[in-house]
Amino acid sequence: MFRAIATSLALFAATAVATAQSAPVSFDSATKVFRLDGGGSSYVFGVNARGELQQVYWGGRLGATDAFPAARPMPEWASFDSSYTNTPQEYAGWGSGLFMEPALKVTFPDGNRDLVLHYQNHTATAEGFDVVLQDISRPIVVTLHYAMDRESGILARSATIENRGTDPVMVEQAAAASWALPAGQYTLNYLTGRWAGEWTLNQEPVLAGARVIESRRGSTGHQANPWFALQAGEANEDHGEVWFGALAWSGAWRITVERDQLDAVRVTGGFNPFDFGYVLQPGKTLETPVFYGGYSAHGLGGASRLLHHFELAHVLPNPRSTAGANGAPLPRSPKPRPVIYNSWEATEFRVNEAGQMALAEKAAALGIDRFVMDDGWFGQRKDDHAGLGDWYVNQEKFPHGLKPLIDKVHALGMDFGLWVEPEMVNPDSDLYRAHPDWVLNFKGRPESEQRNQLVLNLARQDVHDYILGFLDKLLTENDIAFLKWDYNRNWSEPGWDQLPAAEQKRVYVEFTRNLYGILAELRHRHPKVEIESCSGGGGRVDLGILKYVDEVWPSDNTDPFDRLTQQSGFTYAYTPQVMMAWVTDSPHWMNKRATTLQYRLLSSMQGSLGIGSNIAAWSPDETAVAKRLIAAYKEVQTTIVQGDLYRLLSPLGGSEFSATETVKADKSQGVVFLFIHSTQEGHGFPTLKLKGLDANAEYALTAIEGKARAGTPGTASGAWWMNHGLEMDEGFRGDFQAAAFRLDRK
Ligand code: DGJ
Repeated sequence: MFRAIATSLALFAATAVATAQSAPVSFDSATKVFRLDGGGSSYVFGVNARGELQQVYWGGRLGATDAFPAARPMPEWASFDSSYTNTPQEYAGWGSGLFMEPALKVTFPDGNRDLVLHYQNHTATAEGFDVVLQDISRPIVVTLHYAMDRESGILARSATIENRGTDPVMVEQAAAASWALPAGQYTLNYLTGRWAGEWTLNQEPVLAGARVIESRRGSTGHQANPWFALQAGEANEDHGEVWFGALAWSGAWRITVERDQLDAVRVTGGFNPFDFGYVLQPGKTLETPVFYGGYSAHGLGGASRLLHHFELAHVLPNPRSTAGANGAPLPRSPKPRPVIYNSWEATEFRVNEAGQMALAEKAAALGIDRFVMDDGWFGQRKDDHAGLGDWYVNQEKFPHGLKPLIDKVHALGMDFGLWVEPEMVNPDSDLYRAHPDWVLNFKGRPESEQRNQLVLNLARQDVHDYILGFLDKLLTENDIAFLKWDYNRNWSEPGWDQLPAAEQKRVYVEFTRNLYGILAELRHRHPKVEIESCSGGGGRVDLGILKYVDEVWPSDNTDPFDRLTQQSGFTYAYTPQVMMAWVTDSPHWMNKRATTLQYRLLSSMQGSLGIGSNIAAWSPDETAVAKRLIAAYKEVQTTIVQGDLYRLLSPLGGSEFSATETVKADKSQGVVFLFIHSTQEGHGFPTLKLKGLDANAEYALTAIEGKARAGTPGTASGAWWMNHGLEMDEGFRGDFQAAAFRLDRK
């Protein structure tokens, strides 16, 4: 009898709050342990005896009945490292002798800077928990938000910091979350770069000390991207445990990976504390960005596949995600991107009505879906010295406005897209002459120009209203399906001198919030309009902006060979669905490398395809090749951009060959791309063992471009393609060669 009561009490205590849609989440009130399960992972944290919220477990999914004892703080180490610093807190205030990266650091008006956060209470939400912490004596309250994705096991974490006191509090550092990993040896993977050289994958051991990945630039930046992956032991594409994360913030950010004096590894990320300062007035709150974290037992490839599916299902704007008319759920992935033509590399600033119409005719003949006019159509824009800020149509170039061009593009069966760079102004513009105070600057200090332009202070309400106003008017007055939203410099002199000195650093938060606000409002007012995030290439790609845009421009470097490594790096963090990839002219303007049109097309077909060449100069043969491959691409595009991506042979490290394969979620189709950099010593292309197919199903092999070895079966089992592999024709050798195949389940 007693035993039966005890059992039912325990069951009651471990109340599962899962619903049909939500991830299984539970809280054990006896041990004060929280647990969230999703996909192949479990995340567990608890309240320790001191009242701190402490991480207990993050890794492979545990048995449904497995239970944890209450969280136990780590012991003090000699007298130098306190238990407070050794204990992996979920969200540590800087205080009480913390030497690890704090999640939150504040200064109270009386000079007190000690902050120790203790658990108060929590509420269950549809996908997780909101857990409330408060300082041990001061009315600073932090609510930690946890939302677990049931399918991928990716956990979204963020914090709301609230001042419930009567005096303002200066927030000097605010992370979205801290993550703790089991003790061990790790390889850190992270992405860095520069303009036209983005998406370099770096792999290094996690040694003692802190590794900081950050942007101090006011926006995400080309230099580093807010993504990390920590792999147990050596980095491996297919095997091994990987813990990964990505920060959803397009302003200055920082991720700190630390291995402490006791070899414990923690990752903390959020607003970049460099030059940060947010005055939290009484009764006000500060919301941090979201930091997503996930776990895969299948190497870096497994981690990126989880992220891709999560982005498609839960991050990207998804007009089709609601239930259909009869209540049936619609496919959750956004639709594959239209194949676009963009005029930038063909015309640069020399756009006009006749020239764009001629390009549009050529584009339509290729099977292009969307014609995009790039920079140069507005104000007194002849080059990059003037015009930014003056968003009226240039009368010399378009004497009758944009309508004749847009009508022509529609008549040719395409929709129309337009380039804008809303947050910028040239000093040579009517806007700057009227509002010189609208730019980021410190009074009396130089205004440093880059690309002859200054950054408007979008944190200001009047600037926000101006930008929203002109974009709304542009979209209302013209039938525009797509905006390429560019952003071509980083911040300097980030002052906001209309505010009291102590408040000016709010710019680091409000600028990005207003950007998101405008994007959200435009989408609301113009639901059919799609948007690309471009920042001189890949300078603003992150899970924050991806909530509001449909695609990104990964790099201004369109060299098809450089793109192989860039695209490979990009896909560690982001889905090929958003990865725009244009075919441009050969020899390439940057590297002077000559490549065939087939090679350029196949390189770009690994992402969302676009054409950026001067197609007016293409021969009939070139036009025919492009038309054929664009049509072939459209047949398999959904598999390429939304399937499971396997990097079969990495292009990194100067390799001779590379190959990717993407398999549709239901395993009905696979698409394989193969590239030769430069054949050496007569090497033939290695036999390519495919992955992810259904071993028991039969698949027909069809060449999109290139030839398999004579005698290759037209149809064979998934087991054959995965174990025996695909062999290439003997003639597949040389420099910058490419081939592609599709496999269709019979
Ligand atoms: C930078 C972009 O990345 C390019 O594609 C192009 O749009 C130029 N800006 C236009 O100024």
